[in-house]
Amino acid sequence: MVVVFLVGSSTLCAEPIQASEGLRIMADRNTGNCVSCHEIPAWKQSTESANRLTLQGNFGPSLQGVGSRYNKQQLRQWIVDARVIHPNTLMPPYGTNERLHLPARSKNLLTQKQIEAVVDTLTTFAQVPVSTKDEKPSEALATSGIAQLQSANAMNPIELWIDEGKRKWEEDCSACHALEKVVKAVPNFPKLDASHKLINLDDQISVCRQRAEVNANPNPNPNSNSIATTTASTQSFYNDDNLTLELSTFLNDAARLLAINIAPPTNPSHATIWKKNLADGERLFKTRMGHMNLSCQQCHDGKVGTSMRAQKISAGHPTGFPAYRISWQGLGSIERRIRACYSGVQAQVPAPQDIRLRQLELYLKTRAQGLPLEGPSIRQ
Ligand code: HEC
Ligand code: HEC
Ligand code: HEC
Repeated sequence: MVVVFLVGSSTLCAEPIQASEGLRIMADRNTGNCVSCHEIPAWKQSTESANRLTLQGNFGPSLQGVGSRYNKQQLRQWIVDARVIHPNTLMPPYGTNERLHLPARSKNLLTQKQIEAVVDTLTTFAQVPVSTKDEKPSEALATSGIAQLQSANAMNPIELWIDEGKRKWEEDCSACHALEKVVKAVPNFPKLDASHKLINLDDQISVCRQRAEVNANPNPNPNSNSIATTTASTQSFYNDDNLTLELSTFLNDAARLLAINIAPPTNPSHATIWKKNLADGERLFKTRMGHMNLSCQQCHDGKVGTSMRAQKISAGHPTGFPAYRISWQGLGSIERRIRACYSGVQAQVPAPQDIRLRQLELYLKTRAQGLPLEGPSIRQ
Protein backbone atom coordinates (compact mmCIF):
# COMPACT_ATOMS: atom_id res chain seq x y z
CA MET A 1 0.00 0.00 0.00
CA VAL A 2 2.65 2.52 1.09
CA VAL A 3 4.86 1.74 -1.88
CA VAL A 4 2.00 2.17 -4.30
CA PHE A 5 1.12 5.49 -2.72
CA LEU A 6 4.69 6.80 -2.95
CA VAL A 7 5.15 5.73 -6.55
CA GLY A 8 1.80 7.15 -7.51
CA SER A 9 2.34 10.52 -5.86
CA SER A 10 5.85 11.07 -7.17
CA THR A 11 4.63 10.86 -10.74
CA LEU A 12 2.07 13.56 -10.00
CA CYS A 13 4.58 16.05 -8.60
CA ALA A 14 7.01 18.12 -10.66
CA GLU A 15 9.61 15.60 -11.71
CA PRO A 16 12.78 15.75 -9.67
CA ILE A 17 16.03 14.80 -11.39
CA GLN A 18 16.68 11.15 -10.53
CA ALA A 19 19.27 10.93 -7.73
CA SER A 20 22.00 8.39 -8.36
CA GLU A 21 22.99 5.79 -5.79
CA GLY A 22 26.11 7.85 -5.04
CA LEU A 23 24.09 11.00 -4.42
CA ARG A 24 21.76 9.19 -2.07
CA ILE A 25 24.73 7.88 -0.06
CA MET A 26 26.12 11.41 0.16
CA ALA A 27 22.83 12.82 1.43
CA ASP A 28 21.80 10.04 3.81
CA ARG A 29 22.52 10.74 7.48
CA ASN A 30 23.16 7.07 8.13
CA THR A 31 25.75 6.54 5.41
CA GLY A 32 27.89 9.29 3.89
CA ASN A 33 26.13 12.33 5.34
CA CYS A 34 28.49 14.43 3.21
CA VAL A 35 25.89 17.21 2.90
CA SER A 36 26.24 17.92 6.60
CA CYS A 37 29.63 19.47 5.73
CA HIS A 38 29.57 20.10 1.96
CA GLU A 39 27.36 21.90 -0.49
CA ILE A 40 26.35 19.48 -3.20
CA PRO A 41 24.36 21.44 -5.79
CA ALA A 42 23.39 18.27 -7.67
CA TRP A 43 21.59 17.00 -4.56
CA LYS A 44 19.76 20.26 -4.11
CA GLN A 45 18.53 20.00 -7.69
CA SER A 46 17.45 16.41 -7.24
CA THR A 47 15.18 17.12 -4.29
CA GLU A 48 11.96 18.92 -4.79
CA SER A 49 11.82 21.99 -2.61
CA ALA A 50 13.56 23.72 0.26
CA ASN A 51 12.70 21.13 2.88
CA ARG A 52 15.06 19.93 5.59
CA LEU A 53 16.55 17.32 3.29
CA THR A 54 18.07 20.01 1.12
CA LEU A 55 19.88 21.71 4.01
CA GLN A 56 23.58 21.54 3.37
CA GLY A 57 26.50 22.60 5.53
CA ASN A 58 29.57 24.66 4.70
CA PHE A 59 32.02 23.16 7.17
CA GLY A 60 34.02 22.00 4.15
CA PRO A 61 34.29 23.43 0.60
CA SER A 62 31.52 23.03 -1.97
CA LEU A 63 31.92 19.85 -3.95
CA GLN A 64 30.92 21.62 -7.15
CA GLY A 65 33.61 20.99 -9.72
CA VAL A 66 35.64 18.31 -7.88
CA GLY A 67 35.20 16.06 -10.91
CA SER A 68 37.20 18.57 -12.97
CA ARG A 69 39.89 19.18 -10.35
CA TYR A 70 40.67 15.57 -9.43
CA ASN A 71 40.91 12.29 -11.27
CA LYS A 72 39.14 9.18 -10.07
CA GLN A 73 42.07 7.87 -8.06
CA GLN A 74 42.53 11.18 -6.24
CA LEU A 75 38.83 11.36 -5.45
CA ARG A 76 38.96 7.86 -4.03
CA GLN A 77 41.88 8.87 -1.82
CA TRP A 78 39.93 11.87 -0.51
CA ILE A 79 37.12 9.57 0.58
CA VAL A 80 39.08 6.55 1.81
CA ASP A 81 41.61 8.44 3.92
CA ALA A 82 42.36 12.10 3.21
CA ARG A 83 45.09 12.08 5.86
CA VAL A 84 47.34 10.66 3.14
CA ILE A 85 46.83 13.94 1.22
CA HIS A 86 46.76 16.37 4.21
CA PRO A 87 47.91 14.98 7.56
CA ASN A 88 45.81 17.61 9.38
CA THR A 89 42.72 17.24 7.26
CA LEU A 90 39.25 17.75 8.73
CA MET A 91 37.75 15.41 6.14
CA PRO A 92 36.74 12.15 7.92
CA PRO A 93 38.30 8.88 6.71
CA TYR A 94 35.45 6.84 5.21
CA GLY A 95 37.39 3.77 4.15
CA THR A 96 39.59 2.91 7.11
CA ASN A 97 39.44 2.54 10.88
CA GLU A 98 43.15 2.92 11.44
CA ARG A 99 44.57 5.48 13.86
CA LEU A 100 41.18 6.44 15.24
CA HIS A 101 40.51 7.18 18.93
CA LEU A 102 37.30 5.68 20.41
CA PRO A 103 35.49 4.81 17.16
CA ALA A 104 31.91 3.79 17.93
CA ARG A 105 32.02 0.54 15.94
CA SER A 106 34.51 -1.65 14.17
CA LYS A 107 33.10 -1.16 10.67
CA ASN A 108 34.33 1.56 8.33
CA LEU A 109 31.97 4.47 7.67
CA LEU A 110 31.39 3.27 4.10
CA THR A 111 31.88 -0.06 2.36
CA GLN A 112 34.14 -0.32 -0.67
CA LYS A 113 31.10 -0.63 -2.89
CA GLN A 114 29.52 2.50 -1.46
CA ILE A 115 32.78 4.40 -1.88
CA GLU A 116 32.92 3.42 -5.57
CA ALA A 117 29.34 4.66 -6.06
CA VAL A 118 30.25 7.98 -4.42
CA VAL A 119 33.45 8.33 -6.47
CA ASP A 120 31.52 7.62 -9.69
CA THR A 121 29.08 10.38 -8.84
CA LEU A 122 31.83 12.83 -7.85
CA THR A 123 33.49 12.42 -11.26
CA THR A 124 30.32 13.89 -12.80
CA PHE A 125 30.58 17.09 -10.72
CA ALA A 126 31.97 19.35 -13.42
CA GLN A 127 32.88 22.97 -12.92
CA VAL A 128 29.93 24.99 -14.11
CA PRO A 129 29.48 28.74 -13.79
CA VAL A 130 26.77 28.42 -11.14
CA SER A 131 25.43 31.14 -8.97
CA THR A 132 23.83 29.72 -5.84
CA LYS A 133 23.89 33.09 -4.06
CA ASP A 134 20.13 33.43 -4.05
CA GLU A 135 19.63 30.22 -2.07
CA LYS A 136 19.86 31.04 1.58
CA PRO A 137 16.32 30.70 2.87
CA SER A 138 16.61 27.57 4.99
CA GLU A 139 18.86 28.90 7.72
CA ALA A 140 16.87 32.08 8.07
CA LEU A 141 13.73 29.99 8.40
CA ALA A 142 15.17 27.75 11.07
CA THR A 143 16.52 30.66 13.10
CA SER A 144 13.34 32.69 12.96
CA GLY A 145 11.40 29.66 14.18
CA ILE A 146 13.55 29.56 17.30
CA ALA A 147 13.32 33.31 17.84
CA GLN A 148 9.55 33.01 17.73
CA LEU A 149 9.57 30.20 20.23
CA GLN A 150 11.87 32.10 22.57
CA SER A 151 9.98 35.38 22.44
CA ALA A 152 6.40 34.15 22.63
CA ASN A 153 6.48 33.82 26.39
CA ALA A 154 3.21 32.00 26.74
CA MET A 155 4.48 29.34 24.36
CA ASN A 156 7.98 29.18 25.77
CA PRO A 157 8.28 25.62 27.09
CA ILE A 158 11.02 26.61 29.54
CA GLU A 159 8.63 28.68 31.66
CA LEU A 160 6.79 25.54 32.73
CA TRP A 161 10.02 23.94 33.90
CA ILE A 162 11.00 27.03 35.87
CA ASP A 163 7.62 27.10 37.62
CA GLU A 164 7.83 23.43 38.48
CA GLY A 165 11.42 23.84 39.72
CA LYS A 166 10.39 26.74 41.94
CA ARG A 167 7.62 24.70 43.47
CA LYS A 168 10.05 21.82 44.16
CA TRP A 169 12.61 24.19 45.61
CA GLU A 170 10.12 25.55 48.10
CA GLU A 171 8.91 22.10 48.99
CA ASP A 172 12.19 20.17 49.23
CA CYS A 173 15.13 22.53 49.46
CA SER A 174 14.24 25.82 51.12
CA ALA A 175 14.28 24.22 54.59
CA CYS A 176 18.08 23.97 54.45
CA HIS A 177 19.00 26.77 52.04
CA ALA A 178 18.62 30.49 51.47
CA LEU A 179 17.93 30.80 47.74
CA GLU A 180 20.24 33.82 47.16
CA LYS A 181 23.26 32.02 48.57
CA VAL A 182 22.72 28.95 46.42
CA VAL A 183 22.12 31.06 43.29
CA LYS A 184 25.44 32.86 43.89
CA ALA A 185 27.18 29.46 43.87
CA VAL A 186 25.78 28.44 40.45
CA PRO A 187 28.58 30.12 38.40
CA ASN A 188 31.26 28.28 40.45
CA PHE A 189 30.43 24.75 39.25
CA PRO A 190 31.98 22.26 38.51
CA LYS A 191 33.98 22.06 41.73
CA LEU A 192 35.41 19.48 44.11
CA ASP A 193 33.03 18.00 46.66
CA ALA A 194 34.03 17.02 50.19
CA SER A 195 35.60 13.80 48.90
CA HIS A 196 37.58 15.77 46.26
CA LYS A 197 35.52 14.44 43.42
CA LEU A 198 34.71 16.87 40.61
CA ILE A 199 30.94 17.46 40.50
CA ASN A 200 28.74 19.83 38.54
CA LEU A 201 25.62 21.69 39.63
CA ASP A 202 23.33 18.86 38.55
CA ASP A 203 25.32 16.33 40.60
CA GLN A 204 25.01 18.61 43.64
CA ILE A 205 21.27 18.83 43.09
CA SER A 206 21.11 15.03 42.99
CA VAL A 207 23.06 14.73 46.26
CA CYS A 208 20.69 17.19 47.86
CA ARG A 209 17.62 15.44 46.44
CA GLN A 210 18.70 12.43 48.47
CA ARG A 211 19.00 14.62 51.55
CA ALA A 212 15.54 16.02 50.88
CA GLU A 213 14.11 12.51 50.64
CA VAL A 214 15.70 11.51 53.93
CA ASN A 215 14.42 14.76 55.42
CA ALA A 216 10.89 14.06 54.28
CA ASN A 217 11.04 10.66 55.92
CA PRO A 218 13.14 11.21 59.07
CA ASN A 219 11.90 8.35 61.25
CA PRO A 220 11.46 5.31 59.07
CA ASN A 221 10.21 2.21 60.79
CA PRO A 222 13.35 0.03 60.81
CA ASN A 223 11.33 -3.13 60.23
CA SER A 224 8.82 -2.34 57.53
CA ASN A 225 10.68 0.43 55.75
CA SER A 226 14.28 -0.69 55.68
CA ILE A 227 14.47 -1.28 51.93
CA ALA A 228 12.98 2.08 51.05
CA THR A 229 15.39 3.85 53.41
CA THR A 230 18.42 2.16 51.91
CA THR A 231 17.50 3.17 48.40
CA ALA A 232 16.77 6.73 49.45
CA SER A 233 20.24 7.20 50.88
CA THR A 234 22.29 5.37 48.25
CA GLN A 235 20.37 6.00 45.05
CA SER A 236 22.03 8.47 42.73
CA PHE A 237 19.82 10.38 40.38
CA TYR A 238 20.33 10.79 36.68
CA ASN A 239 21.15 14.37 35.62
CA ASP A 240 18.44 14.20 32.97
CA ASP A 241 15.72 13.13 35.40
CA ASN A 242 12.85 15.56 35.09
CA LEU A 243 13.13 16.61 38.72
CA THR A 244 16.83 17.39 38.56
CA LEU A 245 16.26 19.25 35.29
CA GLU A 246 13.44 21.29 36.78
CA LEU A 247 15.53 22.32 39.76
CA SER A 248 18.53 23.02 37.55
CA THR A 249 16.37 25.10 35.21
CA PHE A 250 15.01 27.08 38.15
CA LEU A 251 18.47 27.74 39.65
CA ASN A 252 20.10 28.55 36.29
CA ASP A 253 17.28 30.96 35.50
CA ALA A 254 17.77 32.69 38.84
CA ALA A 255 21.53 32.90 38.12
CA ARG A 256 21.01 34.49 34.68
CA LEU A 257 23.65 37.14 33.89
CA LEU A 258 25.96 36.17 36.75
CA ALA A 259 29.50 35.78 35.38
CA ILE A 260 31.08 32.33 35.20
CA ASN A 261 33.55 32.27 38.05
CA ILE A 262 35.77 29.21 38.23
CA ALA A 263 38.63 29.09 40.71
CA PRO A 264 40.87 26.40 42.18
CA PRO A 265 40.32 25.45 45.82
CA THR A 266 42.49 27.37 48.29
CA ASN A 267 43.88 24.27 50.01
CA PRO A 268 47.08 23.44 48.05
CA SER A 269 46.64 19.66 47.94
CA HIS A 270 43.03 20.06 46.78
CA ALA A 271 44.22 22.57 44.19
CA THR A 272 46.58 19.95 42.78
CA ILE A 273 43.68 17.52 42.29
CA TRP A 274 41.61 20.29 40.71
CA LYS A 275 44.39 21.25 38.29
CA LYS A 276 44.83 17.66 37.21
CA ASN A 277 41.12 17.55 36.33
CA LEU A 278 41.41 20.78 34.38
CA ALA A 279 44.46 19.54 32.47
CA ASP A 280 42.62 16.30 31.63
CA GLY A 281 39.65 18.35 30.39
CA GLU A 282 41.88 20.44 28.15
CA ARG A 283 43.56 17.36 26.73
CA LEU A 284 40.16 15.75 26.01
CA PHE A 285 38.99 18.93 24.31
CA LYS A 286 41.97 18.81 21.96
CA THR A 287 41.97 15.08 21.17
CA ARG A 288 40.54 13.89 17.87
CA MET A 289 37.97 11.14 18.29
CA GLY A 290 35.39 8.92 16.66
CA HIS A 291 35.03 7.84 13.06
CA MET A 292 34.93 11.49 12.04
CA ASN A 293 38.30 11.95 13.72
CA LEU A 294 37.57 15.48 14.95
CA SER A 295 38.30 17.12 18.30
CA CYS A 296 35.98 19.46 20.19
CA GLN A 297 38.51 22.20 19.49
CA GLN A 298 38.48 21.69 15.73
CA CYS A 299 34.76 22.38 15.64
CA HIS A 300 34.29 24.86 18.50
CA ASP A 301 37.46 26.93 17.90
CA GLY A 302 38.36 26.26 14.30
CA LYS A 303 34.97 26.16 12.59
CA VAL A 304 32.84 28.61 14.57
CA GLY A 305 30.19 30.14 12.31
CA THR A 306 30.19 27.36 9.72
CA SER A 307 27.20 25.05 9.46
CA MET A 308 26.67 21.33 9.63
CA ARG A 309 23.34 20.93 7.88
CA ALA A 310 21.09 23.38 9.72
CA GLN A 311 23.27 23.71 12.81
CA LYS A 312 25.57 26.67 13.05
CA ILE A 313 28.64 25.80 15.11
CA SER A 314 29.10 28.07 18.10
CA ALA A 315 32.12 28.50 20.37
CA GLY A 316 30.61 25.77 22.56
CA HIS A 317 30.40 28.01 25.61
CA PRO A 318 28.51 26.27 28.41
CA THR A 319 26.36 29.26 29.28
CA GLY A 320 22.85 28.24 28.24
CA PHE A 321 21.91 25.11 30.17
CA PRO A 322 19.71 23.22 30.63
CA ALA A 323 18.85 23.64 26.95
CA TYR A 324 15.54 23.00 25.28
CA ARG A 325 16.33 21.42 21.95
CA ILE A 326 13.77 20.91 19.27
CA SER A 327 15.41 17.65 18.25
CA TRP A 328 15.22 16.42 21.87
CA GLN A 329 11.60 17.56 22.21
CA GLY A 330 12.52 18.61 25.71
CA LEU A 331 15.17 19.89 28.06
CA GLY A 332 18.63 18.40 28.39
CA SER A 333 21.54 18.91 30.74
CA ILE A 334 25.00 20.03 29.70
CA GLU A 335 26.07 16.43 30.19
CA ARG A 336 23.56 15.35 27.57
CA ARG A 337 24.86 17.97 25.13
CA ILE A 338 28.49 16.89 25.50
CA ARG A 339 27.47 13.25 25.08
CA ALA A 340 25.57 14.27 21.92
CA CYS A 341 28.78 15.75 20.51
CA TYR A 342 30.62 12.47 21.16
CA SER A 343 27.84 10.70 19.34
CA GLY A 344 27.93 13.29 16.54
CA VAL A 345 31.51 12.38 15.66
CA GLN A 346 30.57 8.69 15.98
CA ALA A 347 32.76 8.10 19.01
CA GLN A 348 32.05 5.79 21.96
CA VAL A 349 29.86 7.93 24.20
CA PRO A 350 30.91 8.15 27.87
CA ALA A 351 28.28 6.86 30.31
CA PRO A 352 26.28 9.46 32.24
CA GLN A 353 28.36 10.92 35.10
CA ASP A 354 31.62 9.73 33.56
CA ILE A 355 34.40 11.90 35.03
CA ARG A 356 35.51 12.92 31.52
CA LEU A 357 32.22 14.78 31.05
CA ARG A 358 32.90 16.79 34.23
CA GLN A 359 36.51 17.47 33.25
CA LEU A 360 35.37 18.73 29.85
CA GLU A 361 32.75 20.92 31.53
CA LEU A 362 35.41 22.33 33.86
CA TYR A 363 37.62 23.16 30.88
CA LEU A 364 34.68 24.68 28.95
CA LYS A 365 33.77 26.83 31.95
CA THR A 366 37.37 27.98 32.38
CA ARG A 367 37.47 28.88 28.70
CA ALA A 368 34.27 30.87 29.24
CA GLN A 369 35.45 32.49 32.49
CA GLY A 370 33.73 35.84 33.03
CA LEU A 371 31.00 35.31 30.45
CA PRO A 372 27.48 35.87 31.76
CA LEU A 373 25.25 32.82 32.21
CA GLU A 374 22.39 32.97 29.70
CA GLY A 375 20.09 30.86 31.81
CA PRO A 376 18.13 27.99 30.31
CA SER A 377 18.06 28.41 26.55
CA ILE A 378 16.33 27.18 23.42
CA ARG A 379 18.45 25.53 20.76
CA GLN A 380 17.83 23.86 17.43
C1 HEC B 1 32.92 16.63 9.15
C2 HEC B 1 32.72 17.31 7.91
C3 HEC B 1 32.93 16.54 6.62
C4 HEC B 1 32.22 15.47 6.15
C5 HEC B 1 31.08 14.75 6.87
C6 HEC B 1 32.70 15.21 4.83
N1 HEC B 1 33.70 16.08 4.52
FE1 HEC B 1 34.72 16.16 2.74
N2 HEC B 1 35.90 17.63 3.50
C7 HEC B 1 35.72 18.27 4.71
C8 HEC B 1 36.66 19.37 4.84
C9 HEC B 1 36.77 20.33 6.02
C10 HEC B 1 37.41 19.39 3.64
C11 HEC B 1 38.50 20.40 3.28
C12 HEC B 1 39.85 19.78 3.12
C13 HEC B 1 40.58 19.45 4.42
O1 HEC B 1 40.19 19.81 5.53
O2 HEC B 1 41.64 18.80 4.28
C14 HEC B 1 36.89 18.29 2.82
C15 HEC B 1 37.36 17.97 1.54
C16 HEC B 1 36.74 17.11 0.67
C17 HEC B 1 37.11 16.91 -0.71
C18 HEC B 1 38.20 17.67 -1.45
C19 HEC B 1 37.58 18.98 -1.91
C20 HEC B 1 38.50 19.92 -2.60
O3 HEC B 1 37.96 20.85 -3.23
O4 HEC B 1 39.72 19.77 -2.48
C21 HEC B 1 36.25 15.99 -1.24
C22 HEC B 1 36.24 15.46 -2.65
C23 HEC B 1 35.36 15.61 -0.19
N3 HEC B 1 35.68 16.31 0.95
C24 HEC B 1 34.31 14.71 -0.34
C25 HEC B 1 33.49 14.29 0.69
C26 HEC B 1 32.50 13.25 0.54
C27 HEC B 1 32.17 12.53 -0.75
C28 HEC B 1 31.93 13.09 1.76
C29 HEC B 1 30.91 12.06 2.18
C30 HEC B 1 31.19 10.68 1.82
C31 HEC B 1 32.54 14.06 2.66
N4 HEC B 1 33.47 14.76 1.97
C32 HEC B 1 32.21 14.21 3.99
C33 HEC B 1 34.80 17.93 5.68
C34 HEC B 1 33.88 16.90 5.60
C1 HEC C 1 19.09 18.51 54.78
C2 HEC C 1 19.62 19.76 54.30
C3 HEC C 1 19.63 19.98 52.81
C4 HEC C 1 18.57 19.91 51.94
C5 HEC C 1 17.13 19.48 52.22
C6 HEC C 1 19.07 20.36 50.67
N1 HEC C 1 20.39 20.68 50.77
FE1 HEC C 1 21.55 21.47 49.29
N2 HEC C 1 23.15 21.47 50.55
C7 HEC C 1 23.17 20.97 51.82
C8 HEC C 1 24.54 20.97 52.30
C9 HEC C 1 25.01 20.47 53.67
C10 HEC C 1 25.36 21.51 51.27
C11 HEC C 1 26.89 21.69 51.27
C12 HEC C 1 27.57 20.78 50.24
C13 HEC C 1 27.36 19.30 50.50
O1 HEC C 1 27.63 18.82 51.60
O2 HEC C 1 26.85 18.60 49.58
C14 HEC C 1 24.44 21.82 50.18
C15 HEC C 1 24.83 22.42 49.01
C16 HEC C 1 23.99 22.73 47.95
C17 HEC C 1 24.38 23.46 46.78
C18 HEC C 1 25.76 24.06 46.51
C19 HEC C 1 25.83 25.38 47.26
C20 HEC C 1 27.24 25.94 47.30
O3 HEC C 1 27.41 26.98 47.94
O4 HEC C 1 28.15 25.34 46.73
C21 HEC C 1 23.31 23.48 45.95
C22 HEC C 1 23.25 24.09 44.56
C23 HEC C 1 22.23 22.79 46.62
N3 HEC C 1 22.68 22.37 47.83
C24 HEC C 1 20.97 22.59 46.10
C25 HEC C 1 19.94 21.96 46.79
C26 HEC C 1 18.66 21.65 46.20
C27 HEC C 1 18.26 21.95 44.75
C28 HEC C 1 17.92 21.05 47.16
C29 HEC C 1 16.51 20.49 47.03
C30 HEC C 1 16.41 19.26 46.24
C31 HEC C 1 18.72 21.00 48.35
N4 HEC C 1 19.93 21.55 48.09
C32 HEC C 1 18.28 20.45 49.54
C33 HEC C 1 22.07 20.58 52.55
C34 HEC C 1 20.79 20.43 52.05
C1 HEC D 1 31.96 17.87 14.28
C2 HEC D 1 31.92 19.09 15.03
C3 HEC D 1 31.75 19.02 16.54
C4 HEC D 1 32.60 18.42 17.43
C5 HEC D 1 33.85 17.62 17.15
C6 HEC D 1 32.07 18.74 18.74
N1 HEC D 1 30.94 19.48 18.64
FE1 HEC D 1 29.95 20.36 20.15
N2 HEC D 1 28.55 21.04 18.85
C7 HEC D 1 28.57 20.85 17.49
C8 HEC D 1 27.36 21.38 16.91
C9 HEC D 1 26.99 21.35 15.43
C10 HEC D 1 26.61 21.91 17.98
C11 HEC D 1 25.23 22.57 17.91
C12 HEC D 1 25.40 24.00 17.51
C13 HEC D 1 26.13 24.78 18.56
O1 HEC D 1 25.52 25.14 19.56
O2 HEC D 1 27.37 24.98 18.42
C14 HEC D 1 27.41 21.71 19.19
C15 HEC D 1 27.05 22.16 20.46
C16 HEC D 1 27.85 22.08 21.57
C17 HEC D 1 27.58 22.73 22.83
C18 HEC D 1 26.35 23.58 23.15
C19 HEC D 1 26.57 25.02 22.85
C20 HEC D 1 25.31 25.79 23.09
O3 HEC D 1 25.41 27.00 23.31
O4 HEC D 1 24.22 25.23 23.03
C21 HEC D 1 28.59 22.39 23.69
C22 HEC D 1 28.74 22.82 25.13
C23 HEC D 1 29.50 21.53 22.96
N3 HEC D 1 29.03 21.38 21.67
C24 HEC D 1 30.63 20.95 23.48
C25 HEC D 1 31.43 20.03 22.78
C26 HEC D 1 32.49 19.26 23.39
C27 HEC D 1 32.90 19.30 24.86
C28 HEC D 1 33.05 18.52 22.39
C29 HEC D 1 34.14 17.47 22.49
C30 HEC D 1 33.83 16.35 23.35
C31 HEC D 1 32.34 18.84 21.18
N4 HEC D 1 31.36 19.75 21.45
C32 HEC D 1 32.65 18.32 19.92
C33 HEC D 1 29.60 20.30 16.75
C34 HEC D 1 30.70 19.65 17.30
